[in-house]
Amino acid sequence: MAKRILVLLGHPDCRPERFGSALASAYVDAATAAGHEVRRIDLADLDTPFLAGQWEFESPPPPPILAVQQDILWAQHVVVLFPLWLGATPAKLKALLEQVFRAGFGLEQSPRGPLPKLKGRSARLVVTMGMPAIAFWLMFGGHGLLALEKGMLGLAGISPIRKSVIGGVEMIGGRGRLKWLARMRRFGRLGV
Ligand SMILES: Cc1cc2nc3c(=O)[nH]c(=O)nc-3n(C[C@H](O)[C@H](O)[C@H](O)COP(=O)(O)O)c2cc1C
Repeated sequence: MAKRILVLLGHPDCRPERFGSALASAYVDAATAAGHEVRRIDLADLDTPFLAGQWEFESPPPPPILAVQQDILWAQHVVVLFPLWLGATPAKLKALLEQVFRAGFGLEQSPRGPLPKLKGRSARLVVTMGMPAIAFWLMFGGHGLLALEKGMLGLAGISPIRKSVIGGVEMIGGRGRLKWLARMRRFGRLGV
């Protein structure tokens, strides 16, 4: 069944030689060819100011961020790709997410506690890194994904959240990269 899919390339550098850019394009092209409706956002193209404080977090964001919120509301499936930088998402991606989750976008406060507002959507997180994937899981407990997976998307009710951890990006060589690009095309075709 055709889905509405939002692909967010959360890389501050979207030049085509970055692997994240190739992965995003592979997903988008395959999903589009399979009949899904696809929108793509490149973080590098966005102006993402740092959030100034709680008062700002509680007020609506500026128009470019409102447009990102609308794209998320439109989507049935959200794909976020990013490189692991110092064990976490790049600061520019974190800055965008702080802006996007303004004004109770993902969670509504109620007397019974926070209510998730993005239910009915699924997600895939795709993270690339220099270290082998096994080290990411065993030495760091997958920490670089947790804030985004559990602290933001999970709390907002997005489920399931699938993960692709692409380790050793500088070591896997052309064949390793082609394997991951093929995987991204398969995910794109299936809309997962
Ligand atoms: C500022 C910076 C910090 C990085 N920190 C890490 C890190 O903490 N762990 C790691 O495994 N790789 C780290 N790397 C390597 C990147 O994750 C890797 O080069 C990137 O995922 C490759 O994808 P790309 O070609 O799309 O940039 C870092 C790279 C940069 C530029």
